[in-house]
Amino acid sequence: MNGIKIRGTGRDVPGRIVTNRDLEKIVDTSDQWITSRTGIQARRHCGEGEHISSITAAAARRALEDACVTPDQIGACIVATATPETLVPSTACSLQRDLGLLQDIPCFDLNAACTGFLFALHTMECLLNASPRKFGLVVGAENLSRVINWEDRGTCILFGDGAGAAVVECREGWPSISAVLGCHGNSELLRLPGPGAEEPCVLSMEGTKVFKFAVEAVPWCVDQVLNRTGRTVEDVDFFVFHQANARIIDLAVRKYHIPAEKYYKNIQEYGNTSAASIPLVLSELRQQGKIGPGSRVLAVGFGGGLTWGGCLIEFA
Ligand code: ACO
Repeated sequence: MNGIKIRGTGRDVPGRIVTNRDLEKIVDTSDQWITSRTGIQARRHCGEGEHISSITAAAARRALEDACVTPDQIGACIVATATPETLVPSTACSLQRDLGLLQDIPCFDLNAACTGFLFALHTMECLLNASPRKFGLVVGAENLSRVINWEDRGTCILFGDGAGAAVVECREGWPSISAVLGCHGNSELLRLPGPGAEEPCVLSMEGTKVFKFAVEAVPWCVDQVLNRTGRTVEDVDFFVFHQANARIIDLAVRKYHIPAEKYYKNIQEYGNTSAASIPLVLSELRQQGKIGPGSRVLAVGFGGGLTWGGCLIEFA
């Protein structure tokens, strides 16, 4: 199988900043508790007139511009999200219309919660291998602020909205991203009911149990990706972890002795943006010049489902 590389990235977040101090006025919490337990200081929430489709389109446009690829060169489009504005049309179908993507290409949403972007990258690699077109658009986008239970201080402080996008290219002879993906059906630890459920559409989570799952899943994914690719920690230019809790990232960094210049956190600014979290980091790193052509990035995600995944992706 031919591999994909990232050619360009883009991102967009809503304008409304919600700080920990703002949340102190809504639930029994404190800036000190949230910062020390999670690393989060603020998050962005969609305000009136802001929707997942608008931030998704903005992020995707920036990724196309960054990649110097035009909409008519895109051969497939996947939006990873668990919080679409409408189930039908899918966010990806709306994006096809908004960007003027071709009509004879597959555009669809994919839900693997916080691991969605990595599931989508792997799916895109498979699709482009079967397509005459060589570029694909992969977006991770969430509007989690609309599914927050404001009576649950254990979860309402965690989540934010945002969108991150990547234009990928598939070429003969390029290495596969070697994605390792998995899931274990569990509706108790993390749950977001859909329209078919007889319960309100709000997110619930048993945080401590999910935390325990995450600290086991992250090193498992890192080890699997390194084994599969025959690479070592030193071969990796940058580690990008799903931004769910700064303490989860710190544990991984300590375990693998990852130096400060090889990993990144933006959870303090955006909170947990689920499927958008990894592409938001990728886009910031690229804009800051920390990663670029030739960079090899090991990305790891985990979350609801339960789902987990990792891959080694290069920049074209
Ligand atoms: N402010 C103040 N106190 C709080 C808050 C809050 N916002 N939330 C909980 N507490 C209290 C609890 O009530 C509890 O008090 P008690 O000891 O008197 O009962 C105490 O703090 C400890 O609560 P825990 O839930 O055990 O706190 P923990 O240290 O586990 O932190 C957290 C909670 C931040 C949610 C953590 O468990 C976590 O990050 N879990 C992983 C989340 C994650 O990775 N999710 C995956 C992706 S999400 C997705 O897929 C959509």
